[in-house]
Amino acid sequence: MQENKLQELLDSLSLTEKIGQLVQVPGEVLNTQGQELGVREDLGLSEEIVRNVGSTLNVVGAERMKAVQKAYLERSRHKIPLLFMADIIYGFRTVFPVPLALGCSFDPGLLEKLCEVTSEESVAAGAHVTFSPMVDLVRDARWGRCLESTGEDPYMNSLYAAAMVKGFQKGLGSDKPAGMASCVKHFAAYGAPEGGRDYNTVDMSQRRLRQEYLPSYKAGVDAGCEMVMTSFNTVDGIPSTGNKWLMNDVLREEWGFEGVVITDYAAIAELVLHGAAEDQKDAARLAMEAGVDIDMCTGCYANYLEELIQEGKINEKQLDKAVMRILKLKNKLGLFEDPYRGADEAEEARLFLSEGNRRLAREAAVRTMVLLENKENTLPLDAGGKIALIGPYADNQDALGMWAIHGKKEAVITLKTALEEAAGKENVVSAPGCETLLEKDYHDLPALRMQMGMEGWSREKRQLELEKAAELAEKADVAVLALGEAVIQGGEGGSRTSLEIPGDQLELLRRVREKASKVIVVLFGGRPLVLDEVSRLSDALLEVWFPGTEGGHGIADVLFGKANPSGRLSMSMPRSVGQMPLYYNHFNTGRPYDGVTPNRFFSRYTDCSNTPLYPFGYGLSYHKAEYGPLTLSSHILRRESSLTVKADITNTGDVPGTEAVQLYIRDVAGSVVRPVKELKGVQLVPLKAGETKTVQFTVTEEMLRFYGKDMECRAEAGRFQVMVAPHSGCEMQAEFVLE
Ligand code: NOJ
Repeated sequence: MQENKLQELLDSLSLTEKIGQLVQVPGEVLNTQGQELGVREDLGLSEEIVRNVGSTLNVVGAERMKAVQKAYLERSRHKIPLLFMADIIYGFRTVFPVPLALGCSFDPGLLEKLCEVTSEESVAAGAHVTFSPMVDLVRDARWGRCLESTGEDPYMNSLYAAAMVKGFQKGLGSDKPAGMASCVKHFAAYGAPEGGRDYNTVDMSQRRLRQEYLPSYKAGVDAGCEMVMTSFNTVDGIPSTGNKWLMNDVLREEWGFEGVVITDYAAIAELVLHGAAEDQKDAARLAMEAGVDIDMCTGCYANYLEELIQEGKINEKQLDKAVMRILKLKNKLGLFEDPYRGADEAEEARLFLSEGNRRLAREAAVRTMVLLENKENTLPLDAGGKIALIGPYADNQDALGMWAIHGKKEAVITLKTALEEAAGKENVVSAPGCETLLEKDYHDLPALRMQMGMEGWSREKRQLELEKAAELAEKADVAVLALGEAVIQGGEGGSRTSLEIPGDQLELLRRVREKASKVIVVLFGGRPLVLDEVSRLSDALLEVWFPGTEGGHGIADVLFGKANPSGRLSMSMPRSVGQMPLYYNHFNTGRPYDGVTPNRFFSRYTDCSNTPLYPFGYGLSYHKAEYGPLTLSSHILRRESSLTVKADITNTGDVPGTEAVQLYIRDVAGSVVRPVKELKGVQLVPLKAGETKTVQFTVTEEMLRFYGKDMECRAEAGRFQVMVAPHSGCEMQAEFVLE
């Protein structure tokens, strides 16, 4: 539709019809047989509003989508199609590893590809918008939603944000039904709740917000995302959803965002609970004033905007602007020409879990695993040995993580299936050894079990299963222990105060260790866990996160050396939960601790090291890499110019592999203090056995900018240290001066 026609359409809408466009309702309200009263009444929505709502969420599947759209259009006066939005976070039917794992690939190109494939499956299922990427920076592993983030680094997160937006939106706006609109979330700083407790207060200086937390959202906006979602939290005392400074001044005015802003689920109504609005009407006013276009699943806009406009508290022009943004998005998707855009059962059958998509999922699983220990080259395994596969994740299809709501657990290849395929059924014996979770780890477990009609193991059974597992381990050549946290411990609302592996799993590891000659731990989960004992007791330790549909195959590929692991940590692994928040790019403090001197008056813990167990960027491979000394093209960097940093990287091992070569820089002194190091570049360098490659990075003034004392973003003259290294835990190697 031509833009001028959109304006005509907007002008022809009644006030209620306009408001309807700003209202998003859950699928249940849009029953094809007519409206379902319960949910509609719960939200306090009138029949008229529901007839005119602009969008719905998580109604997917070509058949269902088409039925809902058809029924809706039949009842609608202007026939403005509904927008179908959904949480399609790391795969639709083919599920890839969780984003925290994807962050470990250090390969934005891979994420772009995965999002493109996800978008193809989703478009076939009738989805128009995905609530992804989530680009919240994470530093506290207690927060369950770490798994939805690509990690702790602003630089990598920004690259990933842009890549994901591009991947999802590929083809959008063309004459084909290709690409989905991407919604960057949760704006802003949702990943920094106090104490790691979900939805909790976020409070930080504007400098930190701008320097560390905002860049990834901005990168998503610069990459052209069509939507942005507000976060649940406060920012400097004002909940994001009613935060005019964030939504208008920063997002729209400074960054030039012209797309649609949607709230997170029920976030307008939550303004009342936050204590930022007197009532829902006041909340609607605040959100509207802030520049929020779509109200996700509350009655605030539906029930109060008209009144607010009539009272002159909200200008109808503001409403028109919001409606126009939504109409434009519908138009860009081509919905006026084809309200059923792309929804196609035959395409679903062709694409869902197709061989190609499964192959990609397997590759993604491999590329995102991080080998944390490999003592005496325990891995890769030799073929032919007897394997005791033990642990709650040994034969468990729970490999999708919390946010794969459109994935199918039944499609998951378990580790047992994959090991049997790779090593022969006769060579694999398996036992769970213990349950994943006990009541001490998850307080709602009894209620949950009751709901599902399941019972936990008795004390006797627990003992018996531990013994049985240890016996199996004794008779085998190697014990592979598939351990990890339970899916329900992570994701939204999945905050923890402990970062230990739950249940009897540590005890299982201890018992197996006593009997087995070799112990390989394969660790599932969605957050960094405390692994000191695990790392001590295992010969090899492979972090596989929630690896997705093809996780089992991917793990087997790595265990048997069909693939050489190249994943590097996207988040620091702690020694203790008390270290939270833990991140590599921290400040030095006035009393930095050297880790050795026995003096208490340093910035240190008296019972734990300051350092992580495994630092950001760390990971082992089956090849060995040596990093040669750095050479700089000059020790002076002039503005408008650049300098090059070079290092020779040699694969001294006997297998080919890929190194994630990382460039870190430290600004030695500034008008405000600067982090001890910051990642400024990464190159994935494939190396044949014995091969040396010279890796070169270009450093420019732009890379050294930060928000100084006056809140201007610029680079300050002075000394900088630099290193090219395999991970963030290494030492700086050279210096240059910015003039
Ligand atoms: C709440 C979550 O915070 C958000 O990430 C999600 O997109 C919405 N619910 C919609 O399901």
